[in-house]
Amino acid sequence: MNRDSAERALWFEVWPVACRKPGILRSPGYSAMVHASKMILEAIMKVAPDVLTDDLAEKWDESYQRFENTLFFPSEGVIRFVNKHIRRRTGIDSYTHAFGAPPEVLEIGSGAGRHLVFLAKAGFRPTGVELSAVACEQARALLAYEDVKADACDILNISATDLPFEDDRFPYAVSSATLDSMPTTTARAVIAEVHRAVRPGGLFFVDLIADDALRLGAVDADGDQIVTETHESGTIQSYFNTDKITDLFTGFNIRDIYKMQMTTVDNEIRNSRFYATLEKRDGG
Ligand SMILES: C[S@@+](CC[C@H](N)C(=O)[O-])C[C@H]1O[C@@H](n2cnc3c(N)ncnc32)[C@H](O)[C@@H]1O
Repeated sequence: MNRDSAERALWFEVWPVACRKPGILRSPGYSAMVHASKMILEAIMKVAPDVLTDDLAEKWDESYQRFENTLFFPSEGVIRFVNKHIRRRTGIDSYTHAFGAPPEVLEIGSGAGRHLVFLAKAGFRPTGVELSAVACEQARALLAYEDVKADACDILNISATDLPFEDDRFPYAVSSATLDSMPTTTARAVIAEVHRAVRPGGLFFVDLIADDALRLGAVDADGDQIVTETHESGTIQSYFNTDKITDLFTGFNIRDIYKMQMTTVDNEIRNSRFYATLEKRDGG
């Protein structure tokens, strides 16, 4: 279901019946119905954020068809997370310690596969979860090109709001530029799912756009932005500050957190992001 079909159901199924039933609504008038429809859709979004998911999957497909996030090199944040918090590469074929079996890593929003390739080559066993079918196709092509064997990595084309994994399975999870690329209500649901799927003491790396790096677009009732720039047009950008991070990541301890800004020489902010490594609390 998407927002358009929910709205159609209101106009063609709900209002005609409600307006005929005495005592429910007596000729509410068109503008009252428009207003009520908006409130109902917003309420549905709050309790069932997945209602919008199909719309957003389409917008992300369109963005990947324009190759806007078809990226090939891993983000510096993910490389730093692996080197600092898991194991450091010390030579061409040496690391600070050996893995037994490749440890599993869950990637939320695996996009066109740049981190899946990096993680597989760094000795992990990655599983990517990604809303856009087009991104998943691009990721599979990149993995094949980079000679990552089909059984060395899984990609699931689903929303991360509902993860098909048992509790406490993954020692590690990463999510780069993704939890800020969805409505805040959805991000809250995704974080709860990651918390469930990561084992106690497991690490979760995230990077998140900061609220001093505003883009172009209309801001909705929850303070999230519907992007109107061509880049990622029609998707949702939500913004983070330290209060929101503390609120959303309950159940995790913050191992480290940095805010990195890129400015012009005239101090105009071009980019501003948080990079956080979180640790699932024991029993939390
Ligand atoms: C800015 S892109 C980043 C992609 C990738 N992490 C990277 O760094 O290259 C944001 C990604 O989040 C994905 N996404 C948004 N909502 C999602 C959801 N509910 N479940 C899974 N992926 C989602 C989008 O499809 C998109 O691939």
